[in-house]
Parts: sequence; structure tokens; C-alpha cells
Amino acid sequence: MLHFARRVSKGLPAIALWSKFDNPQLRCKMGTEAHSDSQEWAKKLRDTGLLLSKALIGDKWCGSIDGRTITVSNPATGELLANVPFMSRKETELAITAAHEAFPAWSQKTSTERSKLLRKWFDLLIEHKEDLGHLMTLEQGKPLKEAVGEIVYAAGFVELYAEEAKRVYGDIIPATTHDKRLIVLRQPIGVVGAITPWNFPLAMITRKVAPALAAGCTIIVKPSEFTPLSAVAAAKLALEAGIPPGVLNIVIGDGPQIGAALLESTKVRKITFTGSTQVGKKLMEGCAATVKKVSLELGGNAPCIIFDDANIEVAVRGALAAKYRNSGQTCVCINRILVQDGIYEEFAEAFGQAVSRLQVGNGLDTGVTQGPLINRAAVEKVESHVEDAVSKGARVLVGGKKHSLGRTFYEPTVLVDATPSMKIFSEEVFGPVAPLIRFNDEKEAVRLANDTEFGLASYVFTENISRAWRVAEALEYGMVGLNEGVISTEVAPFGGVKQSGLGREGSKYGLDEYLEMKYVCLGNISSV
Ligand code: SIN
Repeated sequence: MLHFARRVSKGLPAIALWSKFDNPQLRCKMGTEAHSDSQEWAKKLRDTGLLLSKALIGDKWCGSIDGRTITVSNPATGELLANVPFMSRKETELAITAAHEAFPAWSQKTSTERSKLLRKWFDLLIEHKEDLGHLMTLEQGKPLKEAVGEIVYAAGFVELYAEEAKRVYGDIIPATTHDKRLIVLRQPIGVVGAITPWNFPLAMITRKVAPALAAGCTIIVKPSEFTPLSAVAAAKLALEAGIPPGVLNIVIGDGPQIGAALLESTKVRKITFTGSTQVGKKLMEGCAATVKKVSLELGGNAPCIIFDDANIEVAVRGALAAKYRNSGQTCVCINRILVQDGIYEEFAEAFGQAVSRLQVGNGLDTGVTQGPLINRAAVEKVESHVEDAVSKGARVLVGGKKHSLGRTFYEPTVLVDATPSMKIFSEEVFGPVAPLIRFNDEKEAVRLANDTEFGLASYVFTENISRAWRVAEALEYGMVGLNEGVISTEVAPFGGVKQSGLGREGSKYGLDEYLEMKYVCLGNISSV
């Protein structure tokens, strides 16, 4: 995952908010409405009220205290979409206060009450999936079909945790003496700080917010400043669903400052983050000062092993999906394709043909399967990986340069004769480039696959069931796709080992990250 600086403008607090101090803790002007933008493209939304250029603190839609804003633009066209608040520490502290004040009432609701509100939020997300998808394509670039797919995926976490909320069971442990009863309670951890990335502007939010809310926690989310619009729209729907103000807060702006405010606060009891390993390490370090619980979903360097005995058609389809989804900008995207000698040429030929059929363009145009990269810095990173590989002997089979559409578009690329000496073998490219590396036998494949500090996703294609088991067990990764390139789903545990992170998101296991265990020892029950 990448993080880049963005244009920030200083200015008067144009649309807002800090003049009227009706609550000294939460200084947003009362009754401030969400602001809708009136641009042409915005009129294409069925519900134009979903386009908001504000943050959410408690029940107030807010600008920043000093009026600073940051531009959100369309990576496909460069068009300015909105100016959103560029917030910092002070606003984050207000959001923490709002979340802290909302916690007692929210955590004391019954799980059925919380479940019903989450379910209503799920219904609204699905009802507005086309609008939310449209917003996402505009701000993030992914093809509309993929964006709407992400909304459904994102809503899936809300539905799942609406159900799981009702299953937060405790335990009774058989006591070692007659007059005691030993009980285990599971309680919400408290206020949570969530920091989320631009590559999945909504799914990475609901994957954190839904289990947190189901457990009884309240939360402050800092979405990426590149893609805050779908996040804010979803937060508006959460309020409409009846989730009480303060339970979900959104602050947008200065990552390091917002992060520092979340880390330093003793009211914040947990940090959850999806993003780069570099930032994840800093957050983990920052959590030490107040001993906060932390979940991290960090970078990957996914290998895809294609054995001689693989079904070529299945392998091509799987590798294509796992490499080029979101134009290669996911943490579970294949970074290295390891192909066994005996099938190397045949696979390269079939894979190259499939890649050359991918349609690059504006994600709103029909038939487009590959959108732009998020920004120019991302394109430069891809270019540097390709140049490095070619300078060390790789050959470009398909693509290999910026797309003729210019700006942030890069051609879907396949490199053959890649080797472990190349930068792309050890660093996540986060773009549409697939290097094909040759191997000889199973042992070598596993060694190459594990030769990285990362351990998020991995993929294996083989028709040999014994080998499939053996290799899946030997891979040092949190997730393995066996004859499958699409492994993400809300019902399975997503997460990594080694420097790819801590904790799991999604599935019943994802709820544990937001719960504390309390042991209650009831004694002297035989005294009368
Ligand atoms: C990620 O890239 O961080 C998540 C991808 C997914 O959920 O599939």
C-alpha cells in the first residue's frame, strides 16, 4: 500500500463550523447540514444527497477548524470532484470525545438492538449500491462493475456482523472447588481508531466498523484523503439507519496528526489499520505507550505457484483475476508468478493472450476492466519496477509502458524470464505487472514463495491433491488460494503472518479483535 502527499489549501472556514461553541467539547455548529456538491457528474447520482464534502463528528457534519481543505480528484480524468476538510489533531480529539460519550449507551444496548440497526444499514447500502459504486469509480478509478461489487462486498461485512452480534458468547468454566463459579464474559473493548486505505474505499471500512459496532464499540474512522467520498456517503446512511450519533465518526485529513491523536489518547483502546507495513510498524510502536490493542493488515508479496500438472485454463483465469483485480492495487494481488519448467512456455503464451485482451480506460465506460492507477506516483513506482526487471534480463511479453491514455494509466504487463534478483521479486509493485519466474521442483517453488518478509496471500495451481495439501501447509502465509484466484469474502478470516500483519478481519474470528475477555470468579456460594 502506498501513501502520497496531496494538495492542501488553506482558507477561511468557508462552509463551516467552528464559530458557535454550543458544546465546548464538540464545537461544531449545531444543525449543520451535510453539503452537497452541484457538479454535473454529481447530478448522475440518483440520490445527490450522498455527495458530501464534510467529515462527521457526533451528529455534526464538519469542516476543519482552520478551514483547510484537500482536493479529491478523479484519477482517470484529473477532474476535481470535491474539496473535503483537511483535519488534524484537534478535530480528532473532538471525534474521540464524541465516540467516548456515545460508548456507554451503545455498549449497553442489547445485541439484538445493535443487530437490527446494523441490518438496516446493510439494507441502505444495498439500496444505494449503484450510487455508492458510481462515487467510488469517480474517486478511486476502479471499473464501475468492480466498484458496485465492492459495495456489495462492503455491505456483506455489515450483514455478517449484524448476525454475529447475537453470538458473542461467554463461557462457564468447571470450578476446582465446590463453592466457586468461574465465568468468562466478553465485553466491547471501547473506543476504536480505524485508519483505512484508498484501494478499497468502503470494504476496508465496513470490515472494521461492522465488527466494532456489533461488539458494542464506538469508532473514529480516518479514510484515505484520496477516497473519502464513498466513506462519508456510507456514514450518512449509517445515521439514516438509526445508528446513534457519535457511534461512527469520520475525520479526514492529516494522516500523521490524526494518527498521533488516536495513539496518544487513553480513551482510544484499539487501533485497526490497513495500509503499508512501514506505517503499520509506526502505529504498533505508538500503541505501546498506552498499551492499546492493535490489528494490522499490511503489505503483501503474493506468490502464485503454477505446477506442471495445473489445469492451464483454470490457472490463467485464476492468475488473471488475482493479478489484475483493481489494476493490481490490492494487498492480495499476485506479485510473483512462479511457473514450473515443463509448463512455462505454454502458460506464458496463454496468460499473455488473456492479459492483452484486458480493456483499459475510464472505469465509467462500458467494457473497461482496467481503470487507472490511483496517481502519478503509483505509475512511477510501476515504471521503476519494470525498468529494473528489464535491466536485469526480463523480457516484456505484453505491455511494459504507460498507456496511450496517458495520466495515470499503465498497460497491463507480463514479464518473462524474471528472476529473484529483481526488485519486483521482493517489493510489492501495487500495479498491473506480472513477472513470470521459472522453477524446477516443488521444494524450490516453496523456497522461492517463502523467500520474503511478507505473508499475506498466496496461490497454488495443481491438479495433484497431495501436492495441494503439502504446499498449502508449507506456505508461510495467512491465506492460500488453491486453484482459485478470488479468495476474499466477508465470511472467511482475512489476514497475514510475518510482516503482513496481526489479527484477522471478516468471519466470526473478526469479532474477537473488538472484544475483551473478563474472568469473573464468584466465590463462597455455599455460605448461608
Ligand atoms: C486489500 O487489498 O487490503 C484487501 C483486498 C481484499 O479484501 O480482497
